[in-house]
Order: sequence, then C-alpha cells, then structure tokens
Amino acid sequence: MRKLVFALTMGFMALSCSTAEQPAPATEQGNPVIETIMSRRSIRAYKDQAVPRELLDQVVECGIWAPNAMNSQMWEVRVVTSQEWINGATEAVKKNAEAGSPAAKQFEDPSFKNIFRNAPAVIVIGHKVTNQPGSFTQVDCGLMAENMMLAAKSLGLGTVPMASPVGTFLATPVGAPFLAQLGFSEGYEPLLCIGIGYPDEEPAAKPRNKEVIKYIE
Ligand SMILES: Cc1cc2nc3c(=O)[nH]c(=O)nc-3n(C[C@H](O)[C@H](O)[C@H](O)COP(=O)(O)O)c2cc1C
Repeated sequence: MRKLVFALTMGFMALSCSTAEQPAPATEQGNPVIETIMSRRSIRAYKDQAVPRELLDQVVECGIWAPNAMNSQMWEVRVVTSQEWINGATEAVKKNAEAGSPAAKQFEDPSFKNIFRNAPAVIVIGHKVTNQPGSFTQVDCGLMAENMMLAAKSLGLGTVPMASPVGTFLATPVGAPFLAQLGFSEGYEPLLCIGIGYPDEEPAAKPRNKEVIKYIE
C-alpha cells in the first residue's frame, strides 16, 4: 500500500512538472527552495513601506555567497535606500526626457513613482571591467543577483532586475553625479539594478519554453 501511495505521489509530481506551462505549484512538492524559485516574479508595484535594514542585510549577504569564477569576487554592491537619490534620479530623467520618447511616456502612467520600477530601495551591482582570462564578472553578477532575488522572495519581499537604469541613466552624463554618489571603486562599472520592496501586485507567471531543454543520453 505504501509503495502504491509513493508511486502515485511520484507520478503526480512528474506530471505536474512536465506539463508546466505555468510553474508547478511547488507547495505540492513541499520544497521551499523550489517553491521560492517557481513563485518569484518581477515586481513593478510596491507598497509605500520601507524595507527593514536587517532584511536588506540578509538579501545582500546572500548575494555575495553566490558562486563566482575562481572566487575572484570582482563585484561591488551598493544598497540605495536614500529617497533623495531615488527621487533625484527620477527628476533628472524627467527633466531630460525627450517628448514622446519611451522615457517620457513612463511619467504619464498614473501609478508611476520612480524610474526604478517604483521600488522604494535599489540595489546596484557593479563589476570590475576586465579582459583577464577566466574572469566572468557578468556571469558572477547575474548569479549574485538571482541569489539576492530569491532570498528577498523568501523574506516576503519583491524584486525586479533592471538593466535599463544603467544604460539609459547611470552611464549617461545626466546620471554621472548619481553614479559618483554610489562610490564604486576605480575600474568598476554598474551592471544591474535590483528594485526591492514589499510587493503590491501578484503578476502572473510569464511563460517559459521547455523545448530549450534537451537530454543527451
Ligand atoms: C538582465 C536583465 C535585465 C532586465 N531589465 C529590466 C528592465 O530594465 N526593466 C524591467 O522592467 N525589467 C527588466 N528585467 C526583468 C525581465 O523583464 C523579467 O525578468 C522577464 O520578463 C521575466 O519575468 P519574471 O522575472 O517575472 O519571471 C530584466 C531582467 C534581466 C534578467
């Protein structure tokens, strides 16, 4: 009888994984790590509630425990909770946005709060720009970012990774004073921002293509 229950449970789990247009509800799997991975979504609406410092500490510390090539740790992390910085950056973009451009359009959205997808805090991950053989700083930072986002999710927080504020703001003359305030070390450049806060939306899962997975047996 126990064997039958086990077989039925395994069969059900296999079925729920293989039909996953949407991620399988992982509570059925009873695995909190898988549940966190499968239920994370990019969040673009946040409550007006600051994230406690202890939680931010945990999130960023999880980041630096990510695997990274040769443990070179050629990354730097800045956690911005300054509303002056976030709102100042937003105002600077607003002032300089060309009429009709996508940058200008975002300000028309009634739910718009700031250029970091409305998040009340922003983590900026920077990497050392190097051609050193064996260095994979962008990969390392991606792994770091996912560690942070999963840790945040497990703590009841929402996140959104954003490349756009780097390319369209921090790397431009308008963003330069704001980048300077982040104080990255010489030779380091920002790579990715992560908006973080208490989520105020529950977006549906974006579909994933399982066809990309192939076994060579
Ligand atoms: C490297 C990278 C850059 C991204 N840049 C942005 C961005 O600038 N703005 C944004 O709203 N979302 C950005 N995203 C979020 C993606 O749009 C999102 O992860 C994707 O649509 C899948 O949705 P999900 O995260 O909810 O599963 C970025 C994601 C990654 C990994």
